[in-house]
Amino acid sequence: MDKIDLLSELAFKYLSDKCPQIKHPFTPTYYELLKDKIDTTKKVLEIGIGYREMALKWRDYQTGASLLMWREFFPNAQIYGIDILPNALYNDERIESFLCDQTKKEDLENLIKKIVSDVDLIVDDGSHKTEDQIFSCLTLMPIVNKNVIYIVEDASEPEKVAAALSMYNCEIPKLRRRFRDDNVIIVTNKL
Ligand SMILES: C[S@@+](CC[C@H](N)C(=O)[O-])C[C@H]1O[C@@H](n2cnc3c(N)ncnc32)[C@H](O)[C@@H]1O
Repeated sequence: MDKIDLLSELAFKYLSDKCPQIKHPFTPTYYELLKDKIDTTKKVLEIGIGYREMALKWRDYQTGASLLMWREFFPNAQIYGIDILPNALYNDERIESFLCDQTKKEDLENLIKKIVSDVDLIVDDGSHKTEDQIFSCLTLMPIVNKNVIYIVEDASEPEKVAAALSMYNCEIPKLRRRFRDDNVIIVTNKL
């Protein structure tokens, strides 16, 4: 059996479905991508916080699961989460959340004004709709730090997303897929 990496352990601990032990095969890839940035990452933004009632039909879950995972993984980072639903908001030490619709340009621009543009990592785990994934990335990439790593999660049409974001480097890592949307796109600025 493969050794379990730290990020997968934390996803499992906090019940986020990003890890293979619960559902998606994302965290081992994220760990490889981010393991050298554990101490230097200062700001993380996750689109889509998740709330307890959302997942209880299928499994145990807690509001803010992935925000808690990121907070423990990045000991020096402030973690921001956004959601369209008030009952998903989750605030705690080093975790701040905002009501914000990823399909609204004004909401995203106001968000960046509030949290300041020096974000190191953005993860889109919001609506999972292809058009929203493209829109949010096209809106946020030009107004944040040039070194940002932007991850689009649960993409059911990863090639379509990557084609629409062709002005950026888009990597679609090969994952051990079990579900149709077991895809991520890693977006970075071209040098
Ligand atoms: C899959 S859950 C997030 C799970 C969480 N990131 C985790 O790993 O534990 C998706 C969340 O995205 C939110 N969402 C859906 N559409 C959105 C939108 N247009 N803007 C912002 N959030 C949205 C939902 O309300 C829900 O809380």
